[in-house]
Amino acid sequence: MSELYKNYIGGQWVEGTSVNDNINPSNTNDIVGRYARASKAQAEEAIAAAKAAFPAWSRSTPQERHDVLKKASDEVMARKEELGKLLAREEGKTLPEGIGEATRAGQILDFFAGEALRLNGEIVTSVRPGVGIEVTREAVGVIGMITPWNFPIAIPAWKIAPALAYGNTVVFKPADLVPGSAWALVDILVRAGLPAGVLNLVMGRGSDVGQTILDHPDVAAITFTGSVSTGRKVAAACVASTPMKKVQLEMGGKNPLVVLDDADLKVAVETAVNGAFFSTGQRCTASSRLIVQDGIHNKFVDAVAERLKGLVVDDALKAGTHIGPVVDQSQLDQDMKYIAIGKDEGAKLYWGGERLNRENPGFYLQPALFTECTNQMRVSREEIFGPVASVIRVKDYDEALAVANDTEFGLSAGICTSSLKYATHFRRNSEAGMVMVNLPTAGVDYHVPFGGRKGSSYGPREQGAYAREFYTTVKTAYTFAG
Ligand code: UN1
Repeated sequence: MSELYKNYIGGQWVEGTSVNDNINPSNTNDIVGRYARASKAQAEEAIAAAKAAFPAWSRSTPQERHDVLKKASDEVMARKEELGKLLAREEGKTLPEGIGEATRAGQILDFFAGEALRLNGEIVTSVRPGVGIEVTREAVGVIGMITPWNFPIAIPAWKIAPALAYGNTVVFKPADLVPGSAWALVDILVRAGLPAGVLNLVMGRGSDVGQTILDHPDVAAITFTGSVSTGRKVAAACVASTPMKKVQLEMGGKNPLVVLDDADLKVAVETAVNGAFFSTGQRCTASSRLIVQDGIHNKFVDAVAERLKGLVVDDALKAGTHIGPVVDQSQLDQDMKYIAIGKDEGAKLYWGGERLNRENPGFYLQPALFTECTNQMRVSREEIFGPVASVIRVKDYDEALAVANDTEFGLSAGICTSSLKYATHFRRNSEAGMVMVNLPTAGVDYHVPFGGRKGSSYGPREQGAYAREFYTTVKTAYTFAG
């Protein structure tokens, strides 16, 4: 029997009530590790521990919080190859992508180590004589975190790091599919010197562990990244609880990439292929709608298909693999279902979309490029979360912008053009939270706000200095000094 990776509750590593075999999607015979699943009662213990730890941690010095995060960052950076390998093995993104994500986690921890030292307030003169006003930010309390499987270390890092930097305590439930990177991150943070109870790890399913966190009155705030349907339930639970919880949701996308006739074809093809298909298209920021102007359409589509033919879909850990497997059977079923829907709706499967067999059993899928799509088709409206993109032909920039904005989502939007006029207009008129000019819609910096509009996000932005909006609460103090 291999080692059991345990939950971390109130400063102790503890077994759960069942065991989760973490399966490698590149080779389903490979068990990455055995991870404990926590019970509801253990989730409650974790919340109690976080509550008990809050008074001292929220009053700890910025130096103390900085030092823990900095030390954790240093260890993540020193171990980025090994952590990247674990991540690629459990999630299926390629080894370079895994190492890139581990590096991003290290950078985020370092950034928020600095933010712990930078938290400041305001002194305001009152409209009343003799009165002074101080506006300060305080920690919120116990923060519950529910994270998705597609960024197993970066998303936990960008929620845990600001929570701790600003003096909150944490109950963290990672995705059941990828507990390994989350476990490693918690282990690193704990050994970096966190007092007992400040960070608690409860692995398991959303339906029991997640729900317990959502319903508990001692959890002050919830940050969630995942699907729109789950996000809606999370928000409803936060409003239904007494007291109501602060909530932050990052959900889906159906991100447009506009390609205008005046685009540099090479840049446009690279931007589209990277944005739509890298990380197996399993990013909420993926470019799943390629909105292409008439004059460049045929050249662009042929060049994208040519580029896709040259991409190696194989084991995530193999050197030379460009696209790893889909994360699991149910995601693969969803991708295949949408490929069938697209064909039924009259889109043309221009290239790919075939299930692939490789040396080991895994969830391999050729990237799928649909052409002759309308923006009304389900493949152009619903988030697929796989290596599937729809090409929508448009006559001019105005139509491209209208199609780009005609979606229930609004996370990220891109344009490939050499025109300053169109780039500027698109930046101003896109209804997305993030706009990219001649860059893929996916793949963001770690030190600036991340988030979307419309159905993609709810609540304050994540990341960068903006993260303080969610992870702190404002106090306005009036003093009459006589
Ligand atoms: C990125 O594109 O670099 O789940 C980050 C997601 C996003 C993160 C995307 N929350 O795909």
